[in-house]
Amino acid sequence: MVKATNITWHNAAVTKSDRHLQNGHGSCVLWFTGLSGSGKSTIANAVSAELYRMGINEYVLDGDNIRHGLNRDLGFSEADRTENIRRIGEVAKLFVDSGTIVTTAFISPFRTDRDQVRALFEKGEFIEVFVDCPLEECERRDPKQLYQKARRGEIRDFTGIDSPYEAPDQPEIIIRSDLLTVEKAVKEILGYLRDKNVI
Ligand code: ADX
Repeated sequence: MVKATNITWHNAAVTKSDRHLQNGHGSCVLWFTGLSGSGKSTIANAVSAELYRMGINEYVLDGDNIRHGLNRDLGFSEADRTENIRRIGEVAKLFVDSGTIVTTAFISPFRTDRDQVRALFEKGEFIEVFVDCPLEECERRDPKQLYQKARRGEIRDFTGIDSPYEAPDQPEIIIRSDLLTVEKAVKEILGYLRDKNVI
């Protein structure tokens, strides 16, 4: 791969703080991580819908959707997942710079990948939301019937079956999605954003 040289950073005329002032709220990334079927997309979308209702700039980046476009060249090997998360981290950073509260719903199974994304952000901007749901429950739900396929050996490298998931050590928020309703999860996450004066 040939890397670009002779490039310089151009400072923006309108800054992130200008946008926060105009919007009347801050921006951050709510980085959802958890097994397939744990409820990341459902909760991320419910949070987004509530923020939208409140007149807050929000956007959802969702694994399955992004893999149809920007990341359609990537599969599920370790290297591809790492690249998937790296790109999403950079995109999320642009959204935060634009003054948006961006929610991301990717399995993001590797701790180091998530920590590298965290390192892109200023303190407090990266909020890791661990959607904690036992594998047995995800497998029972199996909304896309992918666990079935993985158990039959029709899908390789499936997270939780034959590819690892590394739970976060110190996530900002833990949602036990097998115990909480979606409404309660949304309430907890919005409460966190209020506590931190993001909204
Ligand atoms: S990640 O590991 O790179 O973060 P991502 O969130 O983008 O994964 O995509 C996960 C989604 O892809 C799952 O919800 C599932 O629908 C689908 N999928 C297809 N194959 C696999 C696989 N081998 N492992 C995990 N998810 C898979």
